Amino acid sequence: MNTLGNKLKVTVFGQSHGHSIGCVVDGLPAGFRPDMEQLAAFMARRAPGRSSLATQRKETDIPEILSGMVEGTLCGAPLCAVIKNSDHNSADYAALKDIPRPSHADFTARMKYGESCDLRGGGAFSGRLTAPLCLAGGIALQILEQRGIRIGAHIAQVGNILDRTPDFAAIDTAALHRLSEKALPVFDNTAILAMTQRIENAAQDGDSVGGMIRCFALGLPAGIGEPMFGGVENRLAAALFGIPAVRGVSFGDGFDAAAMRGSEHNDPFLVKDGAIVTQTNHAGGVLGGITTGMPLVVNVALKPTPSITREQNSVNLSTMENTTISIHGRHDPCIVPRAVPVVEAVTALTLLDMLLEDNTWS
Ligand SMILES: Cc1cc2nc3c(=O)[nH]c(=O)nc-3n(C[C@H](O)[C@H](O)[C@H](O)COP(=O)(O)O)c2cc1C
Repeated sequence: MNTLGNKLKVTVFGQSHGHSIGCVVDGLPAGFRPDMEQLAAFMARRAPGRSSLATQRKETDIPEILSGMVEGTLCGAPLCAVIKNSDHNSADYAALKDIPRPSHADFTARMKYGESCDLRGGGAFSGRLTAPLCLAGGIALQILEQRGIRIGAHIAQVGNILDRTPDFAAIDTAALHRLSEKALPVFDNTAILAMTQRIENAAQDGDSVGGMIRCFALGLPAGIGEPMFGGVENRLAAALFGIPAVRGVSFGDGFDAAAMRGSEHNDPFLVKDGAIVTQTNHAGGVLGGITTGMPLVVNVALKPTPSITREQNSVNLSTMENTTISIHGRHDPCIVPRAVPVVEAVTALTLLDMLLEDNTWS
């Protein structure tokens, strides 16, 4: 439902056009002192209204911490934080009340919750609910970083424009740091212009575009995770599919593995500086659901934004007649750039939860 995790539990609440959104995080380590400036900078990477490539809805996204901290230090009690919704325009949605937007959750929410469901701005299904996820995940990222685990992601694809795929065995923390400083985090800077144009062209056509985010976790010890249904892949996939618009999750070479030979896909072992590593990392750092100690590589495919101004067919749920819809509120022409920190946050929350569950990591 709206809660993620076992030992580190995050519950997200709120609706896009309600009073506030927020989260309750239980299980954060007492005594840790989050760097609030760093947290604000992380959340700003997701916040709307900061680039022509994103929705023009302007939200400050400054959280108010209601509990769980004393003078800037986590105290062990559940952390509760709220973020006020300040710039919403429900009039944009009044006309859509009975006409579900194709590919959004309006139809399914109405089928499940009936007429009382809140569809304004996507209600509880809105991408806005990823702001509190970034708040919780931003703290998890800092805790992991203090323990030598660094998480970062790049935009691997926007439409059919691809970034350079790095060597999964050689990716390092300096490369991840450089990515985090870019508005469009890519390895190949020449992809920035092509991706920007692809997004702008789609917007000019009253349309939208999808893409793929690839997230890395460096410094994970070997041996984290459980077999079968408790694997790192299972846990991350379940969590990442909670991000609205995620259509696919794969690891390492992912679906490309289907076309490869064993000799191409296998990662030969090697002793290097007294440690066991693999020469390549097609597996993406996980075998049998358990970490290998090599970089964890998870690929997350996102669909094009459902809300587009271009006219589409839909239905009127109250008259049961066919009709058309053209969506005019403020929407992201491409969700991918704003979803990068969200993928990092959810990856951090899941891995920290799994590490806290592991008896050997304390
Ligand atoms: C950061 C972020 C921003 C989003 N912005 C929009 C948006 O502006 N307009 C829209 O229609 N959907 C947007 N979405 C996607 C919808 O919330 C999502 O497609 C919808 O809830 C249906 O869920 P599903 O795609 O997972 O099936 C956004 C998602 C994320 C993660």
